[in-house]
Amino acid sequence: MRLLMLAARSILFMRAHTAVIPAAGMGTRFLPATKAVPKELLPIIDTPALQLIIDECMGAGIDHIVVVTSHAKPAIEAYFADAPEVVAKLRSTGRDHVADHLEAIGRDVRISFAYQDVAMGLGHAVGCAREAVGDEPFAVLLPDEIMGDSSLLAQMCDVSAATGGSVVGLKHVPREEVSAYGVIDPVGEMSADGVIRVATMVEKPPLDKAPSDLIIIGRYVLTPDVFDCIERVVPGAGGEIQLTDALRMQAEAGPFHGVLSTIRRYDTGNPFGWLTAVVELALDDERIGEQFREWLQARL
Ligand code: UTP
Repeated sequence: MRLLMLAARSILFMRAHTAVIPAAGMGTRFLPATKAVPKELLPIIDTPALQLIIDECMGAGIDHIVVVTSHAKPAIEAYFADAPEVVAKLRSTGRDHVADHLEAIGRDVRISFAYQDVAMGLGHAVGCAREAVGDEPFAVLLPDEIMGDSSLLAQMCDVSAATGGSVVGLKHVPREEVSAYGVIDPVGEMSADGVIRVATMVEKPPLDKAPSDLIIIGRYVLTPDVFDCIERVVPGAGGEIQLTDALRMQAEAGPFHGVLSTIRRYDTGNPFGWLTAVVELALDDERIGEQFREWLQARL
């Protein structure tokens, strides 16, 4: 009965089909590489992290991507531009499959750009996408977190469409680590498929004030009223407009849920996390996995 009701309700609210990818930050933890190469384009084996995020979106039914970038990072837009010389060279040397792959970039899904020329925080970056998103629910994916597949995002889109409210991705962390993250204050029990209501949330709480051990990860599905909330956020330290502050306003005003992630997740925003992601994904890679495993075993 409850399932039927959820299914019926899911028709009432629109499912997100647009995703915002904030990519205008300075990537200071990755300097000096990020002086010339945006962090979002650092390769995971041979594919930019940004492309893996776009693939995740497409797997969850998203058909419009808004990349928030800065004019100081022209390489982001260059990644989506046509490359006729490279394609011609590939075709003339019989590498049509690589040429086809290159030509599909930026064409297999609609890409729009929004600009944030001064990095004023994640909330501000999302706010910069307002016009491109319109008055609809939308997903936000932080490109320095790579997920094993699209299932979490797809489930979050479904939960938002069923409840009419915003949804955040969640992860359990050891209690002593909560102070480094945004932490939710849950209401009631988590359902068997990992969905829980959120009363409010707090950014980087001291250990004794943390309302739970459930932290918010870099996946969100947000209702468009969040844009008004972002405009009401008072800038914090360094003038940054935090997304968590806007989400707290939403959670305290209406339905707001979290979905516990059970899939693989890599934090590639710092050199150690990026390296472990590359090693793990290389071990599983069907082209180089076996060779890499042999080399690594011998090396160790
Ligand atoms: P991060 O805080 O991880 O990225 O933000 P950063 O600020 O570029 O990196 P560090 O901390 O200096 O090393 C997560 C994502 O949000 C984007 C970043 O580009 C990154 O992809 N972001 C962050 C913005 O687009 N604008 C901002 O003002 C802040």
